[in-house]
Amino acid sequence: MSVKPTSPVPVRWRKEVQSVLITDEQIARRIKKMAREIERDFRGREMVVVSLLNGTVIFLADLIRQLNLPLRLDFIGVSSYGAGTKSGELVFTKELRLDVRGRDVLLVDDILDTGKTLSRVLPKLKALKPRRIKICVLLDKPARRAEKIKADYAGFSIPDFFVVGYGLDYAERYRNLPFVGVLHPHVYKNKI
Ligand code: PRP
Repeated sequence: MSVKPTSPVPVRWRKEVQSVLITDEQIARRIKKMAREIERDFRGREMVVVSLLNGTVIFLADLIRQLNLPLRLDFIGVSSYGAGTKSGELVFTKELRLDVRGRDVLLVDDILDTGKTLSRVLPKLKALKPRRIKICVLLDKPARRAEKIKADYAGFSIPDFFVVGYGLDYAERYRNLPFVGVLHPHVYKNKI
């Protein structure tokens, strides 16, 4: 689903956020639809939801509460900005603990951007021999894709904007915005 800017930025955030790209209501509606789609595909089979830290936590919390299926939940910690590493280099900060062998896995991430994160995570997960893996992301930015990765469920296809909120950060900030917004370039250019 594509998006058009719709609603004004709350006063508190106007200096840093230039527009609201997706409102909280739009997100909630879309998540309900995605959950129905996932339920249909998994047909009541118990799934293991594997969520990538940290940005996914808000989307994940809303998504799994809409899923009327038995599931178990685990996390993989992966970040492109590990301590002491160059930006862009991926660091694993937490490994999966649940056994996914023979299981149906729903791999959840907040955004599919270049695809580098998922292209590193997928082979690791596949090596654990799950029955199948389906990828679910809230946001898809196809214009930036550098790896051949496709999501099975994607909430919104978005243009190449620097987005924050609803779990997505800039320098660990803005994750708590209830909407997805476009960051003012002056924030990341002047690093305020
Ligand atoms: C972000 C996001 C995805 C990834 C997508 O994670 O949460 O996991 O980047 O980008 P890619 O498709 O270009 O790999 P980040 O490493 O910023 O960590 P975070 O989840 O802690 O914000």
